[in-house]
Amino acid sequence: MTNTQIETEIDLLEGFSKKGESYSNANGSFGWRNPIREDTGRILQGLVIASNPKRILEIGAAHGLSALYLLRGISNDSGATIDTIEFDELVAADTQERFDTLNVPVKVLPGEAMQVIDTLQGTYDIVFFDAQKSHYFQQLNLLLEKNLIQKGSVLLADNVIDRQEECDEFLNWFTENNISHTIIPTECGLLVAKL
Ligand SMILES: C[S@@+](CC[C@H](N)C(=O)[O-])C[C@H]1O[C@@H](n2cnc3c(N)ncnc32)[C@H](O)[C@@H]1O
Repeated sequence: MTNTQIETEIDLLEGFSKKGESYSNANGSFGWRNPIREDTGRILQGLVIASNPKRILEIGAAHGLSALYLLRGISNDSGATIDTIEFDELVAADTQERFDTLNVPVKVLPGEAMQVIDTLQGTYDIVFFDAQKSHYFQQLNLLLEKNLIQKGSVLLADNVIDRQEECDEFLNWFTENNISHTIIPTECGLLVAKL
């Protein structure tokens, strides 16, 4: 992979995103999926650069824009990998094709997030929540229950300002459990926490 190829893909997807348009390619037209905004992408990239993770889990792949930003933070020789979950089978297949073409270590795990999380093993250094906001809390609980995250894991979640009501229970958990966290006032609001 080259950074130029990743940049080209980011530019392509952001072109659709900024216009609020459906994403289309030779495989079809997929509808707009509320991808991360550019400010969030740059913060995700920066957090990956700073924390040098080995394993990243994303919940909510869509067309792969946020995964591309996460990927851009990984250095080529780190051996780091990204798993990203997507329940729309057509989108999952199309997005996997994008990563395969780029020859990058990103695996799209098709299926409903709770079911997929239940099959995962090992631990993740970073988890980025970006599927249904009202499911963040139950996904967090399952990740904890299965020890997929542990002390030192970094948790990131998008839309915690513009859709705060949907993820209230999730947000309260960080305060109630004294977990170090902050909310960055991006366009949508990004939670950054460390267990
Ligand atoms: C906001 S979009 C993700 C955008 C992506 N992270 C980006 O910035 O490029 C949410 C995606 O999560 C998927 N999704 C929603 N609920 C899900 C669930 N319960 N399990 C798996 N995927 C889900 C949707 O199909 C959609 O593609």
